[in-house]
Amino acid sequence: MKKILLSLTLIAFFGLVMTSCGGDKKAKTTETKTTEVKKEEAPKADAKPAAIDVSKMTANLENGKKIYSKACIACHFTGVSGAPALKADKYKKEDWQKRADKGMATLLEHSITGFNNNLMPPKGTCMDCTNQDLFDAISYMYNEAKVTFK
Ligand code: HEC
Repeated sequence: MKKILLSLTLIAFFGLVMTSCGGDKKAKTTETKTTEVKKEEAPKADAKPAAIDVSKMTANLENGKKIYSKACIACHFTGVSGAPALKADKYKKEDWQKRADKGMATLLEHSITGFNNNLMPPKGTCMDCTNQDLFDAISYMYNEAKVTFK
């Protein structure tokens, strides 16, 4: 009787092992399929990334001041190469306003990629800046320029 019970337990045990192996295989097959699908979609991922949703971003003006003082100040204080300037005798509200009218999403995108033959260089030369850092720096400059976005 004990032997029968033992063999039944063994059968049940191996049965379980087999089933789980089978399950694993199935899982792997699904994984491979997902990878294949991703590969097919790869060219799309290389296309222009979707515009950043700036409406979900909140500006940290203190961080913006740090980034501005480290990178953007070099051109945006005195207005090098036609950059909108903050320095009192170079500051023109309309220089800031006409750019603000493009919308924050565009300004952020131009800050990331560079703008006008890179007169405005990619990331404003702050290569370790995140999108949030650049957003903060733009917000800080606009706050100083006393121009708001629509
Ligand atoms: C090497 C000089 C230089 C530096 C450094 C620089 N900028 Fe600029 N930036 C420019 C110039 C020049 C323009 C004006 C381009 C134009 O309108 O022709 C500009 C324009 C911009 C604009 C407006 C873009 C548009 O679409 O009109 C934004 C926003 C901006 N800069 C953000 C930044 C930020 C943020 C930093 C720092 C992280 C920075 N810039 C650092 C030169 C610079």
